[in-house]
Amino acid sequence: MCGIVGYVGKQQCADILVNALKKLEYRGYDSAGIAVHSEGKIKTVKAKGKIAEGLEAKLTNEGKPVGTCGIAHTRWATHGEPSDINSHPIGNGKITIVHNGIIENYREIKEFLISKGYVFESETDTETVAKLLDYYYEGNPKDAIISALNDIEGAYALGIIFKDFPEKIFAVRKESPLIVGKGNGENFIASDMTAILEHTKEYYLLEYGEIAELDGENIVFCDMHKTEITKELSVADWDLDAAEKGGYEHFMLKEIHEQPEVIKTTINPRIKDGMPDLSECGITPEKLKKYNKIFVVACGTAMHAGLVGKYVIEKIARVPVDVDIASEFRYRDPIVSEGDLVIIISQSGETADSLAAMRLAKKLGAETLAIVNVKGSSIAREADMLIYTHAGPEIAVASTKAYMVQIAVMYLLAFEIAFAMGKIDEAECRRLTSLLRETPDVIEKILEDTEDAQYIASQLITADSLLYIGRGLDYALSMEGSLKLKEISYIHSESYAAGELKHGTISLITDNMPVIAVATQTDLFDKTISNIKEVKTRGAKVIMVCREGYNPDKDIADFKFGLPDDVENLIMPMAAVVPLQLIAYYTSVLRGNDVDKPRNLAKSVTVE
Ligand code: F6R
Repeated sequence: MCGIVGYVGKQQCADILVNALKKLEYRGYDSAGIAVHSEGKIKTVKAKGKIAEGLEAKLTNEGKPVGTCGIAHTRWATHGEPSDINSHPIGNGKITIVHNGIIENYREIKEFLISKGYVFESETDTETVAKLLDYYYEGNPKDAIISALNDIEGAYALGIIFKDFPEKIFAVRKESPLIVGKGNGENFIASDMTAILEHTKEYYLLEYGEIAELDGENIVFCDMHKTEITKELSVADWDLDAAEKGGYEHFMLKEIHEQPEVIKTTINPRIKDGMPDLSECGITPEKLKKYNKIFVVACGTAMHAGLVGKYVIEKIARVPVDVDIASEFRYRDPIVSEGDLVIIISQSGETADSLAAMRLAKKLGAETLAIVNVKGSSIAREADMLIYTHAGPEIAVASTKAYMVQIAVMYLLAFEIAFAMGKIDEAECRRLTSLLRETPDVIEKILEDTEDAQYIASQLITADSLLYIGRGLDYALSMEGSLKLKEISYIHSESYAAGELKHGTISLITDNMPVIAVATQTDLFDKTISNIKEVKTRGAKVIMVCREGYNPDKDIADFKFGLPDDVENLIMPMAAVVPLQLIAYYTSVLRGNDVDKPRNLAKSVTVE
């Protein structure tokens, strides 16, 4: 979603801002712009479209604004279509702002400002904030900011420059994340660390109700009463390499290949003496024993990780687990109460629905556990218990490595719950934990040869629609496989429980329609084969993702992707998701799509 950057220092800032915006491209956007204090004015250049074709082309034609202090933005349209006029920065030459989030009461504010003689140009909610600041401004930026914020309802992060203060940037936030980066003789604001990582690793996390005022030398924070506050400086543990492609053609491919490493980084510190140990995250066997029911609430791929978790926890710990889509959970009046555990899974830690669902769960008396990748994110900060996944920055919009470590954490949790509840003994807990530890090697091996995935992708590129089918854990995986494929290849795809096909969906099968059958679970294998035969006899082109030792006859499958035979059923999803990721990736590449930034999508979904 929208991205904010700001720079103040000694260097010409136009290029710094544009390059930082490029680092935020992965979040998803449809227009971009910069505003710079330039020769006594605020000069704004903004354009619809990708940075290279829109903003950069305009900067080349019109000339770059000269100046060392400016703000910049990538906009993902919510109020008003993507257009030059609706792009940010937005302002009147005296005060200019960039804004992430949504102003809920913008209509009332707009009506009020119109009654005061203001004329609006854009369709955005952001323009109401820019004009409200102008309405309150009498020479003191902080007074204007405080008065305006008192009127505004919604979620926002704002970067603001005032013509009267040519060497300063002001920043505030509520809900939408914003950090203030501390450099050497230069300072920054950014909606996430990747934007400024090449300049600094030191940053302050801006909290709700705090105003930051920065110039090249100083960063000062105050609260809404203008009382100065001291904040703790954090240091990002992500290095620049993690945010670069490192020789891979796309971030998605790089992130798929990083999976063995990130599994190790995530699970190894949480295994002590061969047993899962999540105590450093506030999770103890005593706590895990007492929950009546477990809910997993998340969106998209993170929700699919929850589904794998459900199968595993229910299978070995015998505790009921409900998995909910966060946007449904929060409005369905869920039956959650004290004694329940609500697990929120989120890569970004900022997904609006997941955050709201977590707050609701807390209000209803449940304990909340967040499984989050981005340090210091809202979900991470508000949860009762927290497990960080150490996937590093995930730049590709389509989640791969973050999903992998979300599953890895769900396994550790399942083992610990099952052991705490006496459902498995210590020997079994150790055995399962060591199986989990072996998964990086298994995945490494699968990744050594991606030719079969490329061939399968070549068989899919002309399809209008396809199905993914599976049973049990394979069904949970087929949902993720299907989502991955459709989001980056733009081919319609659905996942179905294999046994459910004949209750309606099988009527879709026509000659050569691709069906990807995930059949790794040995206990369900024969059942799945029967379902595969049902589609094969109706003309489907069947691609099986199964164990290497199985060689399907031509009347069952046209092609297979083989997985190691010796991986246990319970652990198999960690291996089996890899070909599904690769098939989606290569299909997107072969169709010539923008793999890392698929159309209409945003990496961090901060609106509901
Ligand atoms: C799909 C994908 C999304 C996210 C979803 C939740 O590849 O990445 O479906 O999983 O938007 O995002 P987080 O995990 O940040 O809450």
